[in-house]
Amino acid sequence: MSNATPLADRQAVHARSLADPDGFWLEAATRLDWMTAPSRAGDWSFDRDDFHIRWFEDGVLNVAANCIDRHLATRGDQVAILWEGDDPTTAPRHITYAELHREVSRFANVLKGLGAGKGDRITLYMPMIPEAAFAMLACARIGAVHSVVFAGFSAEALAGRIADCDSRIVITADQGRRGGRTIALKACVDEALAIARAVDHVLVVRATGAEVPMTAGRDIWYHEAALNVAADCPPEPMAAEDPLFILYTSGSTGKPKGVVHSTGGYLLWAAMTHATVFDYTAPDVYWCAADIGWVTGHSYIVYGPLANGATTLMYEGVPNWPTPARIWEVVDRHRVTTLYTAPTALRALMKEGDAYVTGTSRASLKLLGSVGEPINPEAWRWYHDVVGGGRCPVMDTWWQTETGGHMITPLPGTPAKPGSASLPFHGVDPRLLDAEGRELDGAAEGNLVIAASWPGQMRGLWGDPARFFDAYFSLYPGVYTTGDGARRDADGYWWITGRVDDVINVSGHRMGTAEVESALVLHADVAEAAVVGFPHDVKGQGIYAYVTLNAGVAADETLRAALRDWVRREIGPIATPDAIQFAPGLPKTRSGKIMRRILRKIAEGDTASLGDTSTLADPGVVKALLSESQARV
Ligand code: WT7
Repeated sequence: MSNATPLADRQAVHARSLADPDGFWLEAATRLDWMTAPSRAGDWSFDRDDFHIRWFEDGVLNVAANCIDRHLATRGDQVAILWEGDDPTTAPRHITYAELHREVSRFANVLKGLGAGKGDRITLYMPMIPEAAFAMLACARIGAVHSVVFAGFSAEALAGRIADCDSRIVITADQGRRGGRTIALKACVDEALAIARAVDHVLVVRATGAEVPMTAGRDIWYHEAALNVAADCPPEPMAAEDPLFILYTSGSTGKPKGVVHSTGGYLLWAAMTHATVFDYTAPDVYWCAADIGWVTGHSYIVYGPLANGATTLMYEGVPNWPTPARIWEVVDRHRVTTLYTAPTALRALMKEGDAYVTGTSRASLKLLGSVGEPINPEAWRWYHDVVGGGRCPVMDTWWQTETGGHMITPLPGTPAKPGSASLPFHGVDPRLLDAEGRELDGAAEGNLVIAASWPGQMRGLWGDPARFFDAYFSLYPGVYTTGDGARRDADGYWWITGRVDDVINVSGHRMGTAEVESALVLHADVAEAAVVGFPHDVKGQGIYAYVTLNAGVAADETLRAALRDWVRREIGPIATPDAIQFAPGLPKTRSGKIMRRILRKIAEGDTASLGDTSTLADPGVVKALLSESQARV
C-alpha cells in the first residue's frame, strides 16, 4: 500500500483526536472547501437536559461544490463517475468532472424551475444510473434535502416515506434494470402517489425508453425540461448544520426512522474515512458495489469519493448476472483498484466455486472492503486469498446509517484478525456496557455504545426530536447506543456480535421485525404475528415469521405463499419471510409480552435449550410450536 498507517501511528492519531478534539477536527476540516471556514469544531451534549449535537456551526459550504467545482481546475478531464450497465454489452459511460459539473448544474436548474429551493425535501426513487447521482448532487447544490428511497421498496413503503417528510417533488425513471429484468419504477411511483398525498411534480428520467403514462401538469420528462435551462448554477451557501439528506432506516417499531445527516460534519466524515480507510490515490478506480438507496451508496459511491476527486464506479446490476463471474469481469474491464462489497454477496459467490474468480485476472486490485454485517472468517479468507490473491488487505468496516461513515475499521497497515472490525477510527470513542449500564473494562462483551460525538453523527429523526433522543440516548444516559453487541479482546480489537434490539440484518440490510409484523397483521386472515431472525448461510440472517390465523382460516400452502407475496408487496422483496410457521398461539408472559427469546431458539432449531419457560402464561403453546417448527417454507 502506498500510505499504510502502522498500528502505533494510528493509535497515536486516535489518542490525539480524543485528547484534543477541537484542534484535531478544525485541522481535519481543512480538507473541505469552505465558503466561510468554521471557527469551532464540536459543540454537543448527550444529556437529556442539554441535548444538542453541532459541528463546525459557523462554517459555510456547499456539498456539490466540494464534490465537483473544486476539482475542475486540476481534474476536469478525469472520470468522476464510471458507469457499468446491467447488461455487459451496454457501453460503459465515462462522466468527467467537467461533465459532472454541467449535468448537475442543469439538473439543479430544472429543480429550481419546478420551484425547489433551500430546505425543500425531494424524494428520489431511482435505478443505479448516473442521473441518480446527478439528482442527489443537484439537490445539494440548491440546498434541497434529498430522501433516496431504495428502488426495491414497494409503492406502499415509498408512499409512507414521501408523506413522512412531505416531499413536493419525486424524481424517478421510466424503468430500472437489474439482473436482466426491468423494474417498473414510474408505475410504482404512480401507485405510491395514489396512496400518499399528491405531490406537485414527478420528474422522470428516461432510462430504458419504455412507454410510461405521464400525468399532465404533474409529470415532467427530465430530458425535455433540461433543454431549456442553463448549464451553470451557482452553489447555494449552506450552514454546516443544514440538513443534507434524510435516509429512512428500520428501527424497532413499525415505522421507519428518517435519519437526518448534516452538510459539513457528514461530508467531512464521508471524505476523510473514504480517503483514509481506502487509501484512495488518483487515478485509482474505486468501486463500491452498494446501491445509492442505502447509506453505503450515499457515503461511499457519491459523497466520499467525489469529495476526494476519485473515479467512482457505479454499477447498475447485480453481482451474479449474467454469470457469477460478472463482478470480477467488471474489475478487470475497468481495472478496479478498490472493491467494497458485502459479506452476503461474497458468500453467495463463494458457493459457486473458485473457477469464476480464478478465470479472471484481478491484477488491478489493491484493497478490499467489507460492510453491512459481521464477515465470517471463512468468507474473509476467501475474499483475501482467492479474490485478492493474498495481496490485498481487507477493510472490515463497522458503521451504521446513523453514523454517516466508518466507525470501527482497519486502516491499511492495521494487522488483520479475520472477523474483527479491529479499531476505532479517529475521534471514535467506543465503550462496552453491561445490561445495567455499567462500563466493562479490558477484554469483555456487552452493549456497544459511543461516548463522544463525531462529525458524521446523525443530527436527528425527521420531524421527531423526541424519538431521536429516546431511540439512541435514553437507555444508557450520556452515550450514543448503537443497538449492536460487541466483544473487545485482549489486544483492544472489536468484534461486532450483531444487533441486540428487534432489528435483524438480512443480506446486509436492516429490517425491523416490527415492520414485517405490521405488514403481516394487515392481511385479513392474520390475527397476530411475531417475527425473529435466524441464521441463514447466504443472507447472514433470514426472516422467520410466526403467524396466528383468524378462527376458521385454513393454514395451507396457498395461504403461506399468499402471505409471502403480501409482505413483498407491502414492504418490498427484501422483507420476504424465508419461513412462515402457522402458530395456534404465541408464547407470552402473563402480562402479555411475546417471549421472542423462545421464538428465536425455535427458529434457530435450538430446541434443546429453550431456557426458563416458567413465566409463560400457557406453557402448552411452546409444545405446539415445537411440533410444527419443521414446516418452513
Ligand atoms: C448495522 C447497520 C453500515 C452501512 C450498511 C448497513 C451491521 C454493518 C458491519 C460490520 C458487523 C456490521 C451492524 C449495524 N453492520 N457493518 N462491518 N461488522 N456488523 O447500515 O442498515 O444502518 O445497518 O449493520 O449491526 O448496526 P445499516
